[in-house]
Amino acid sequence: MKDIYTLGIESSCDETSVAIVKNGREILSNVIDTQIPIHEKYGGVVPEIASRNHIEAISRVTKKALEEAKMTLEQIDAVTPTYGPGLVGALLVGLSYAKALSFAINKSLVGVNHIQGHIATNYITYKELEPPFLCVMMSGGNTQIIHVKGYTEFEVLGKTRDDAIGEAFDKVARVVGLGYPGGPKVDKLAQEGKPTIDLPKTHFENMDFSFSGIKTAVINLHHKNPEINKADLCASFEKTVTEILIENVKKVIELTGIKTIALAGGVSANSYIRKAFMDLKQEGMEIYMPDLKLCTDNAAMIASAGYYNYIQGKRDTLDLNAIPNLKL
Ligand code: KG4
Repeated sequence: MKDIYTLGIESSCDETSVAIVKNGREILSNVIDTQIPIHEKYGGVVPEIASRNHIEAISRVTKKALEEAKMTLEQIDAVTPTYGPGLVGALLVGLSYAKALSFAINKSLVGVNHIQGHIATNYITYKELEPPFLCVMMSGGNTQIIHVKGYTEFEVLGKTRDDAIGEAFDKVARVVGLGYPGGPKVDKLAQEGKPTIDLPKTHFENMDFSFSGIKTAVINLHHKNPEINKADLCASFEKTVTEILIENVKKVIELTGIKTIALAGGVSANSYIRKAFMDLKQEGMEIYMPDLKLCTDNAAMIASAGYYNYIQGKRDTLDLNAIPNLKL
């Protein structure tokens, strides 16, 4: 069978990334131009600044991705950009570039849902992994338990009703003075603390999540007592959100009978969460977690998901638009 090469383009938030992936599983290049140092001083991503920096970076990053893969544009089978969810102005840069590129080289344009991309990180990390499985998707914009029925077939079984888990990490970090992006900083400080502080958990009948209550509780505790041990607070926060995640995952396993679980999204880089999920192996579950380098936004995951869309026959036209709140 002929090899298929997809060129993924990711610009949904603060990373400009272009990657070339072979047959959906093998990374030939994955160039990531992060804007974190630019947004750090504002304490979060400023959408207009993100768009402007994507424009400045996109051609350079694409050229570098081709060079690193030692490929020419003629060898690409499909251009596969993220078209949502994300910041609309940021998405439009990568998407418009992808449209122009696919038109210029006369190759297929295949749009990719960013969440589908995060799920696909597991296909790159584990060459043997195939659907069906459950995916615990944890990022800055989403928290969902997804039944991955096929490479392009998904059912969301549980989701956050308010904040995404990454948002809660970032807010906690900001309040205790750790800065942006908060998740990795909370992760690091928590390792010096003990989970001794009781924090609230919200329960629902179904498999939905809520993270705004625990986030507010941490903020209130810190405001009432600025001398509180920050490491203990971070450790307690991590322990409680992990319990919330695992309680819901267990409910979903009971409902579906599926015991294969893959993690995805930026927060799946968290060391406490990774260890807690690894421990589930002792309860007979099969656990997959993406390579740390692939947890946060990158175009290799978009090129991988793009490959599966492409081989299923999905094709887009030049009127494909950016959809900031695109669902799976
Ligand atoms: O998946 P991602 O790169 O972007 C979205 O698509 O949203 O996720 C970014 C989120 C941020 O909230 C960041 O703080 C969080 O992932 N994050 C972490 C860690 N590394 C990144 N959260 C907890 N622990 C980490 N080690």
